[in-house]
Amino acid sequence: MAGKLLYEGKAKKIFETEHPYEVEVYFKDDATAFNGAKKGQIDSKGVLNNAISSMFFELLEANGVKSHFIKKIDERVMLVKKLKIIQIEVVVRNIAAGSLSQRIGWTEGKLLPCPVVEFYYKDDDLGDPLINDYHVAAMGLATPEELAFLAKESLKVNEILKAHLLGRKVKLVDFKLEYGKSDQEILLGDEISPDTCRFWDSETNLKLDKDRFRRDLGGVEEAYQEIYDRLKG
Ligand code: TMP
Repeated sequence: MAGKLLYEGKAKKIFETEHPYEVEVYFKDDATAFNGAKKGQIDSKGVLNNAISSMFFELLEANGVKSHFIKKIDERVMLVKKLKIIQIEVVVRNIAAGSLSQRIGWTEGKLLPCPVVEFYYKDDDLGDPLINDYHVAAMGLATPEELAFLAKESLKVNEILKAHLLGRKVKLVDFKLEYGKSDQEILLGDEISPDTCRFWDSETNLKLDKDRFRRDLGGVEEAYQEIYDRLKG
């Protein structure tokens, strides 16, 4: 790696580069679920998530969504703009699943009449609690204008990814995005991968994402590989 380790997260490591405004993201095979309570390894996950995220960031860039992505450097490493992360996780849902099904009581698989945007406070110690725009204002996490931008941009990402994936026989059930500031500009950050999205086969609803790990369904590596293969076409 280029420079010193700046930060190590559950699935990635961030290294400094010679350039103060750029960092390298190293994708690990480590997998966690339930806020780190469940731990494991998914063979080749780092390689696949780096490749999948790179393809998605390129697709989004081509469709007018700005992100931290600069280029893929090698199998496990991506060069990105350094961001000051906004402590809000934005989740967009098209189909009920996971915590939405638990909270609202909607059966997993129910098609939502319109996309649902949710905000979570990015704080591991608190287990990333669900928050609303009033919490965001009171906590000073973002201005109302910034929060409106996050929601609008995330819905735009949803439309772009949903259409692209459907052409590859994949339903985009839901996903989580993170944003940060580079200078004064808000850019999409983090990763977009089977770790951070729910992908279902459009015909069989077979799960092709991290729920296979979370729920011990088996075939985890194969699911990540399948998403990569379908995107690669
Ligand atoms: P949820 O249904 O568990 O709230 O998850 C919604 C989406 O967010 C799903 O696509 C998985 C993603 N997600 C993450 O990327 N990181 C997380 O820590 C959690 C809980 C969910």
